[in-house]
Amino acid sequence: MSKHDSIAAEGAVYYLFGATGDLARRKLFPALFSLYKEGKLAEDFAVVGLARRPRTNEQFRADLLESIGEFCRYKADDSQQWERFASHFVYMSLDINNVDGFRELARLTADLDVKFDIPGNRLFYLALAPELFGPVSFNLRDGGMLESKGWNRLVIEKPFGYDLESARKLNAQLSQVFKEEEIYRIDHYLGKEMVQNIQVLRFANAFFEPLWNNKHIANVQITLSETVGVEERGGYYDKSGALRDMVQNHMMQMLAMIAMEPPSRLHPEDLRDEKVKALRSLRPFASSEEVKANVIRGQYAGGELNGKPLSGYREEDSVNPQSETETYFAARVHLDNFRWAGVPFYIRTGKRLPVKTTEVVVEFKNVPDNILFAHRHDLAPNLLVIRVNPMEGIYIKINAKKPGVDNVVQPVSMEFCQSCMIGINTPEAYERLLHDAGRGESTYFTRWDEVAEAWAFVDRIAEAWRGNSPALELYPAGSWGPARVEQLLAEDGFHWWPVNGQAEDNVIWISGGPK
Ligand code: BG6
Repeated sequence: MSKHDSIAAEGAVYYLFGATGDLARRKLFPALFSLYKEGKLAEDFAVVGLARRPRTNEQFRADLLESIGEFCRYKADDSQQWERFASHFVYMSLDINNVDGFRELARLTADLDVKFDIPGNRLFYLALAPELFGPVSFNLRDGGMLESKGWNRLVIEKPFGYDLESARKLNAQLSQVFKEEEIYRIDHYLGKEMVQNIQVLRFANAFFEPLWNNKHIANVQITLSETVGVEERGGYYDKSGALRDMVQNHMMQMLAMIAMEPPSRLHPEDLRDEKVKALRSLRPFASSEEVKANVIRGQYAGGELNGKPLSGYREEDSVNPQSETETYFAARVHLDNFRWAGVPFYIRTGKRLPVKTTEVVVEFKNVPDNILFAHRHDLAPNLLVIRVNPMEGIYIKINAKKPGVDNVVQPVSMEFCQSCMIGINTPEAYERLLHDAGRGESTYFTRWDEVAEAWAFVDRIAEAWRGNSPALELYPAGSWGPARVEQLLAEDGFHWWPVNGQAEDNVIWISGGPK
């Protein structure tokens, strides 16, 4: 059995930098508890919470309990089990700019190794601002934290840089301390069940792969829409915008999973090689005119959602009242390779849109016009819809005969609703990713060359935007974005298909219809 098949993560000390922050509270603590509940974390582990603020172990464990109560899919209802789990957690106040603190951390670690029988493995999770990744890495090295006989892994969150140049600099810093295979760059979309399912759907079904190319696919539409605004993150978001917050990472990764060639082996590097090739095939926008013709950038103004009035982006906390930052992005992109030549990919993402959903719609080309059922030119195209979030599943839209004597063709949708199935308790993306990092499985983490390709593509857009091409368009909060978004597809004779189960009027659903 390879290490990738084994269930439990290898015994290790987990260091959570930023342990008093939001990510730890909402995602990381609950993920660790779920893994423990499911036996994916054995007893040979310890977690050291690290942040500047002083906190006792007891206070830290109380934070842990509260976070699990609020955000975990399991309850801490077995007090003995809870006590055992919590006993693995300790807290240390650390000034990350001072190497002496890291020496003290090394001493604490030696005790934890003995106490929990840990074979010297270290996993450093930096839930920190990226400008701290370099300094922390240097101090880990200089403070003697990387000298044990076990493995060292560095897990980092996005954003990985602000553009290609800053990402390169950051990578150069990290690579002074860690090897590429020791760096686990999180893109939490890759931890989502249905994003991982894309390759199974594509490569384990005779139905799809033979049709998965420009001979049979008319266009692909990827939507990552959110109802939320920027919440308390205005300070970060105003410098980032949708392009850097969602497109450079999550959108590019989804696109790569849809577009890549089948990897020849189920090995992390093979899958990542294929994603890199797909990203490299993206046709770069050659001029600001091209960006203008193919990209839309929007920002939400005041509006309403479900009857509730909403303020505009420029009124949000910590946002510049004259901000030109985009909260909406849509584009038509092409991949210049044999499989996809001529097939437009339409991608869109935004905040304060009418629904929260992540969906991929693959629209197939129609049957030839001269055969019996297409003669009236009104056959609906076949669709494959992959629903990633919040509902998980797929549906396909096909044409069938309407019962009766009139020979009428009727679109019919057939659905596999994974999240409707009883007993399904899908792990959170962070559970899966933490578990993978703990057992050295790097398939669903982004490699440096993927990150670099994505930045190279995005940088051209950002550059055109600096010259105001295209101009920022305002859209009312609660709407589907700037009006020109419809036009982008109409120019090619297409339209956006409804998402999130907003059924089309004339479609019959088998199995009840989407929720
Ligand atoms: C994060 C972005 O990476 O993804 C957020 O920084 C966004 O702005 C979030 O809200 C969306 O993730 P999900 O899993 O809710 O679709």
